[in-house]
Amino acid sequence: RGLNVRSASISRDAPVTTSSGLPLKEVPGSYGLPFFGAFFDKMAFYWTEGTPHYYENRMAQHKSTVYRMNTVPGPPFFPDPRVIVLLDQKSYRTLFDVDKVDKKDAFVGTFVPDVAFTGGYRVLAYLDPLEEKHTILKSFCFEILKSSGRRVFPEFHKALSEVFVQWETGLEKNGKVKFNEALSVGTVSFNFRALLNADPTDPDTKATLGKDAASIIKSWIIPQIIPLSVIRLPIFLKLALAPFIELLFHTFPMPYSLVKTKHQKIVAFFRENAKETLDMAEKQFGLDREEALHNLLFYTCFNAWGGINFLFPAIVSRLGSTSEEFQRELSAEVRKAIEDNGGLNPAALNSMPLVQSAVYEVFRTDPPVAYQYGRAKKDLIIESHDAAFQVKKGEMLAGYMPLAHRDPKVFADPEVFNPKRFLGEKGQKLVQYVIWSNGPQTETPSAHNKQCPGKDFITTIANLLVAEIYSTYEMLKADGDTLVSVKQVSVCRVILGHALERQ
Ligand code: HEM
Repeated sequence: RGLNVRSASISRDAPVTTSSGLPLKEVPGSYGLPFFGAFFDKMAFYWTEGTPHYYENRMAQHKSTVYRMNTVPGPPFFPDPRVIVLLDQKSYRTLFDVDKVDKKDAFVGTFVPDVAFTGGYRVLAYLDPLEEKHTILKSFCFEILKSSGRRVFPEFHKALSEVFVQWETGLEKNGKVKFNEALSVGTVSFNFRALLNADPTDPDTKATLGKDAASIIKSWIIPQIIPLSVIRLPIFLKLALAPFIELLFHTFPMPYSLVKTKHQKIVAFFRENAKETLDMAEKQFGLDREEALHNLLFYTCFNAWGGINFLFPAIVSRLGSTSEEFQRELSAEVRKAIEDNGGLNPAALNSMPLVQSAVYEVFRTDPPVAYQYGRAKKDLIIESHDAAFQVKKGEMLAGYMPLAHRDPKVFADPEVFNPKRFLGEKGQKLVQYVIWSNGPQTETPSAHNKQCPGKDFITTIANLLVAEIYSTYEMLKADGDTLVSVKQVSVCRVILGHALERQ
């Protein structure tokens, strides 16, 4: 049957096994009645069960980490919601193998937002590596990241210094501060300065977006992904608002016209301030200037800043909830590495194993992109830890990363946030199972796979965020999205212009 099964040696009653000795099974689960099955599942996903329970409940029911289910947004106006879900570290890897899965138009899931959001172009994230443009556009993306190299450390430091001032002012005034408000504005400036060498919040920049840059960009991102969002509300508001939210956000793709004016402002900013990068795209990669612009805009605003907006709040929130003892240890490691290496530079960052471990742990517990999709390119056998499943060509596979990152066969006490998990030889062996970038942390993205090209850039700035925080503060206390206190480091030092003391 063209499948990798050891059928020759089995008797009629014995279970069929694969070459690795796992029993070959039908994928459990069903999609229910046409329309109604998907509709009731949709209500369960958004309202009655929510995530991660929607996945966990079915995993328990089928006693399997691979099963059939309806995904969202589904009927009536989104495409076929039938998927095979993969929830363990072994089966999940199928989604990274571009010989096995077609990643065409699978970036956000079963649907594609109106291409008007991206200037009428199918941008890189929606392309399968077999499409000719994929290699060219990904190489262009690598070049942009490479050219940002020298700017990353100084620009990050500058942006974070401004964030800390905002935090401290808020704490002084109100005794608490929503830490992501300043962080989100700071990271917009940093991200653009690093990737484009221009700041959209700077009033003197041509076609500036001004102080509302972050909110303008968010209003372009959110309609593209809102059909996937589970909106968490207190029960009384849920009952009152659910029908409206369903109708507005989960029933139809959002029309581009809602954000056209704001999007055009962002486009104008790129047209004015990315001239050199666009010249490079034309000359070095033979790209059409307009197509390069819309890709560059998507890399900078959606891929990079969109991801940072999920990751950074998780880092502050998680670390700000750890013990005083652990935070003192973290701060001591950061300050020693800075002192030993003459400043907060790449060598210093490489000498911070505790920081690195803590960052991997945040990636593990809070992967910023929770979903991955891909269509089987051929008939496949997909193996979980304890069974193998036949999948037909054309079936849609869906990964939910928070559960793969909590696979108990790989991570001990997977529900516990353990910032020291990745320390030492044993800890280092676990790094390969951190897969937030659509691939193992130990592998390298290439122009021929779908791993995030920003993997190293993001890992560096995530570590830098922790290093900046703990070179300034000995400790911080966070309660969800709110910072309730910070304690500054007490020794005043200035190393190579890097002011550690901000009193
Ligand atoms: C792809 C995550 C930052 C550019 C991806 C994918 C993930 C991801 C999960 C694969 C999606 C899929 O096909 O299923 C993230 C996260 C980031 C981040 C969480 C930040 C925290 C960046 C940065 C850049 C970037 C900084 C570049 C400036 C891209 C591009 C793709 C991609 C272009 C498509 C790759 C391809 O088609 O081969 N990212 N990313 N990302 N990312 Fe990132």
